[in-house]
Amino acid sequence: MTEVVRVDELSRIFRTGAVEVQAVRSVSFSIEEGAMVAIMGPSGSGKTTMMNMLGCLDRPTSGRYFLGGEDVAKKTDDALARIRNRRIGFVFQSYNLLTALNALENVELPLVYRGMASGERHRVAAQTLAEVGLSELMSFRPYELSGGQQQRVGIARALAGTPDLLLADEPTGNLDSVSGEEILNLFLDLHQRGRTLIIVTHDEQVALHCQRIIRLKDGRVLSDQPVDPARRRIKADLGTRALTS
Ligand SMILES: Nc1ncnc2c1ncn2[C@@H]1O[C@H](COP(=O)(O)OP(=O)(O)OP(=O)(O)O)[C@@H](O)[C@H]1O
Ligand SMILES: [Mg+2]
Repeated sequence: MTEVVRVDELSRIFRTGAVEVQAVRSVSFSIEEGAMVAIMGPSGSGKTTMMNMLGCLDRPTSGRYFLGGEDVAKKTDDALARIRNRRIGFVFQSYNLLTALNALENVELPLVYRGMASGERHRVAAQTLAEVGLSELMSFRPYELSGGQQQRVGIARALAGTPDLLLADEPTGNLDSVSGEEILNLFLDLHQRGRTLIIVTHDEQVALHCQRIIRLKDGRVLSDQPVDPARRRIKADLGTRALTS
């Protein structure tokens, strides 16, 4: 199996004036292609800090991060931005969609940065929105969509560039249970199609759908264990096809 992520003694210290916070302390793990992994832990345990480093939005204070075998810790800002744009899809709790753009334009945006021609961009974005069940709503602005629909736009935006790694920080945190379940089904569908997913969640039910749970506490790995297949809550027939917009 190909290793997509390997972190080695990764640490992140925040210094604000005289105060020093060790948000992530010497964390090591690796994640293989096609894995679906949950990161859990109490508030302040370093989950978002960890995800921001995995997503190349932030740099570790020390330690190494290999993405697809490549050491990314020492890259320049420009190189890091390129890696982020081409290899990583990030899904946020609060969707982070641009309100001035409709669903299609939001999904197109990362492809614009990539320099893709507009015709191709349109085609890819429309196809990705169809995959998340939003074909009918491509011209809607974020405020015309439900939370679950907005999150599906967020997922389509993350997926449009066919990233090696999909990172989601509390993707169901702002959603009611029905919309949350739709989003979870979408992730399970992506997992079944071979995507590599790392999901931060407070929700044990979400985590139990993953293959493995990494628990953080005070910035350290408290446990890193596979989910017992008997406890995994995989449903027989799931996926975007079952979703209605
Ligand atoms: N930019 C920053 N500057 C200073 N301290 C920070 C910064 N970002 C995070 N921290 C601190 O690092 C620690 C870990 O924060 P982090 O956001 O990673 O936690 P979390 O596990 O995501 O929590 P939550 O479940 O509430 O989202 C906290 O003590 C937090 O205050
Ligand atoms: Mg967080």
